Amino acid sequence: MFITFEGPEGSGKTSQIVLLAAYLREQGYKVVQTREPGGTSIGDQIRSVLHDVNNREMQSVTELLLYSASRAQLVRELVQPALAEGKIILCDRYADSTLAYQGYGRGLDLQELKMLTEFATGGLKPHLTVLLDIDVERGLARRQIGGDEMNRLDLEAVSFHQKVRSGYHTLVAAEPERWVIVDADRPVEIIQQDLHELVIKKVATLPSGSVIK
Ligand code: TMP
Repeated sequence: MFITFEGPEGSGKTSQIVLLAAYLREQGYKVVQTREPGGTSIGDQIRSVLHDVNNREMQSVTELLLYSASRAQLVRELVQPALAEGKIILCDRYADSTLAYQGYGRGLDLQELKMLTEFATGGLKPHLTVLLDIDVERGLARRQIGGDEMNRLDLEAVSFHQKVRSGYHTLVAAEPERWVIVDADRPVEIIQQDLHELVIKKVATLPSGSVIK
């Protein structure tokens, strides 16, 4: 089963994924935890180019193609093989980040982004996508307090991140059966409890054998 996690900056995705992976392993599932951009050796090299705060001259189209290249590698090297082995893949960001950031945020053409994403992923869609939703200014402040690595996109104005967040809501409305919105402005353990319930519920809906213990 392929589960992706999306959200504005500072939504706490990464910490939630670590806890969820540990919980699912305790339940006997085989879990692969990964992220975008990155998750493979090639993807991690692309990530450092993308996030280097010195690369201020990077064009939106260049950015788009680099995220897509990292994704193309991840799908083929890691996600598809893990799916074939009945594992649960927890991925910190995926194609919806491209629609939210490069599409709604940067203003690139959404139809073109969808075509490129289809090409990069070979059409692979998540079974479930969790939107860890948080007010943009709360999220950005949390990131600064947390002392996380700051990347090129963190340097964008609040208005950019607001477009990203509302873009996510538009994506959820267009495909509600794939998405679940989780309020990320709550204590970590309460959010985690919600995630346990919704993942276990989702596993039960899949054909038997697609997730192996
Ligand atoms: P994160 O690992 O802290 O979530 O950082 C990833 C950053 O990259 C975040 O600012 C969102 C951005 N991003 C895009 O703009 N487009 C994409 O397709 C992906 C995967 C990430």
